[in-house]
Amino acid sequence: MISLTHLFIGILPIILAQDPTITTTSSDSTTVIDSTTVSSTQSLTAVITNTASVPVTDPNGVVKSIYDFLPGAGLNITYNLLTQISNTSEGISLLNLVSQGNISFLAPTDQAYQNVSTNITSNSTLLTQLFSYHFLQGVWGPNTTATIPNDTIVRTFLNGSEYHLPGGFSSPIVLSKQPKALLKDVGPFEVIQNSFGLITNEELSGPDLRIFVIDQVLQLPQKVNDTVIPTQPLFNNTNLLDPLIDSEGFTLFLPYHHAVGTMNFSVTELEQVLPNHIINGSVVYSTELLLENFTSAGGEPFLIEQNENGTFVTSGNVTALIVGADWIVSNGVIHVIDHIFLNTDVDQEAAESAYSVNVAQAVSSDVFFVRSVFKWGERGVYSGE
Ligand SMILES: *[C@@H]1O[C@H](CO)[C@@H](O)[C@H](O)[C@H]1NC(C)=O
Ligand SMILES: *[C@@H]1O[C@H](CO)[C@@H](O)[C@H](O)[C@H]1NC(C)=O
Ligand SMILES: *[C@@H]1O[C@H](CO)[C@@H](O)[C@H](O)[C@H]1NC(C)=O
Ligand SMILES: *[C@@H]1O[C@H](CO)[C@@H](O)[C@H](O)[C@H]1NC(C)=O
Ligand SMILES: *[C@@H]1O[C@H](CO)[C@@H](O)[C@H](O)[C@H]1NC(C)=O
Ligand SMILES: *[C@@H]1O[C@H](CO)[C@@H](O)[C@H](O)[C@H]1NC(C)=O
Ligand SMILES: *[C@@H]1O[C@H](CO)[C@@H](O)[C@H](O)[C@H]1NC(C)=O
Ligand SMILES: *[C@@H]1O[C@H](CO)[C@@H](O)[C@H](O)[C@H]1NC(C)=O
Ligand SMILES: *[C@@H]1O[C@H](CO)[C@@H](O)[C@H](O)[C@H]1NC(C)=O
Ligand SMILES: *[C@@H]1O[C@H](CO)[C@@H](O)[C@H](O)[C@H]1NC(C)=O
Ligand SMILES: *[C@@H]1O[C@H](CO)[C@@H](O)[C@H](O)[C@H]1NC(C)=O
Ligand SMILES: *[C@@H]1O[C@H](CO)[C@@H](O)[C@H](O)[C@H]1NC(C)=O
Repeated sequence: MISLTHLFIGILPIILAQDPTITTTSSDSTTVIDSTTVSSTQSLTAVITNTASVPVTDPNGVVKSIYDFLPGAGLNITYNLLTQISNTSEGISLLNLVSQGNISFLAPTDQAYQNVSTNITSNSTLLTQLFSYHFLQGVWGPNTTATIPNDTIVRTFLNGSEYHLPGGFSSPIVLSKQPKALLKDVGPFEVIQNSFGLITNEELSGPDLRIFVIDQVLQLPQKVNDTVIPTQPLFNNTNLLDPLIDSEGFTLFLPYHHAVGTMNFSVTELEQVLPNHIINGSVVYSTELLLENFTSAGGEPFLIEQNENGTFVTSGNVTALIVGADWIVSNGVIHVIDHIFLNTDVDQEAAESAYSVNVAQAVSSDVFFVRSVFKWGERGVYSGE
């Protein structure tokens, strides 16, 4: 049984130090990217290189700039591992995407690799997936990142295999930043996920490429059951999540374990209420929750509202506060809520119709990158008590 404190630490990044150059965090869910020592903007005009480590056409010189930057910044492991994949077919595909420019790269420090298994670093398929998740589509920085408690959802290049999302979109990461960075393109910003994060202070910045140094290797999105069960042990040793594991995309409103309180649920009862916690066929990040009316996998309407206290989701006669938004899993997204929906109603026709609409929309739409909604009213105030 995990404690409430542990849970909140898991979902609440609490930044302790205020000096951006020594920013630290008590959270195990935040990677802080500190760009206060912004280097003077370097011009990244076209330089085509034929060195063996760059087996890609690099019209914008982006790949060369990355290779040039890394050793000087002391990022030797990132440099070596990128070189290691650069002559494999997966690696070449990734670097060809990168070479087109308009990307950001979150480059881990040497120390960051301490916790990465050699099973990953010695396997070029897994290593390329890992790097795909550290390259972001678009040139991102603090001035294009929402302020806590809001999120910015940014697509990476991680796609395919178990990381499939509706519409063929790639897995995103979640960025957020401290209020003090609001008006300037400096100051820390953070990758929020279930892995540790601390300081960084090197940056390369240009029109086609931005490199931020991060002190943790990002964790790839996990399977839904691996993310859910530690937060809600009710699902442990049941097969209730199997349809989600195999799903082509979903949104799950997950009641954290205290949401259930002293209520007892049999597996059958849980199975009855679960569909009304799911949006089937649609991956709805916090940035999109208020833009549409959504229907549950049970065919029941969700009512989603926002006020100064946070974002609230109602199903049937229960209203829940979103206490943790945008937990990215391999084929969907989870928003953690503080109550369980007891709604057992099912409208099969409405459910099927919503599902077909969701699937059809997914093919033609992408997330709104920066538009954000309140995640919860007072992130940072919850102490877990
Ligand atoms: C990183 O690589 C550079 C250039 O190859 C080398 O000068 C430096 O000593 C290396 N640093 C570490 C910590 O290995
Ligand atoms: C790729 O390069 C690495 C290091 O230079 C080498 O060990 C490996 O054999 C090469 N792989 C292929 C497929 O050429
Ligand atoms: C690495 O792979 C070996 C052999 O497949 C396995 O025994 C070991 O548990 C793996 N280590 C990790 C950290 O996954
Ligand atoms: C690399 O990892 C993939 C995915 O886990 C696996 O299928 C493949 O067998 C691994 N390759 C090697 C050489 O271990
Ligand atoms: C850069 O990438 C972002 C994210 O994919 C996209 O929205 C934007 O239009 C791109 N900009 C250019 C100039 O291609
Ligand atoms: C945001 O940052 C980018 C990259 O440094 C810069 O080009 C752009 O002018 C900045 N925008 C604003 C509004 O400050
Ligand atoms: C999640 O499901 C996979 C099978 O898809 C299984 O291998 C794994 O053990 C499950 N994880 C947990 C925490 O039950
Ligand atoms: C799930 O059940 C297994 C035993 O079947 C137990 O070892 C594990 O600790 C449980 N996980 C949680 C999060 O309760
Ligand atoms: C959701 O439904 C309500 C009631 O039918 C309607 O007033 C509202 O405009 C809808 N919201 C959106 C975003 O479509
Ligand atoms: C927000 O919470 C406060 C304190 O619980 C309460 O007084 C207020 O009515 C709430 N605001 C709304 C719009 O519900
Ligand atoms: C809420 O709805 C559930 C079933 O949908 C019902 O069992 C319960 O009694 C209702 N609670 C209240 C307070 O109306
Ligand atoms: C978060 O987004 C909401 C909705 O766009 C906005 O009203 C609020 O001011 C934002 N909060 C911060 C801290 O930027």
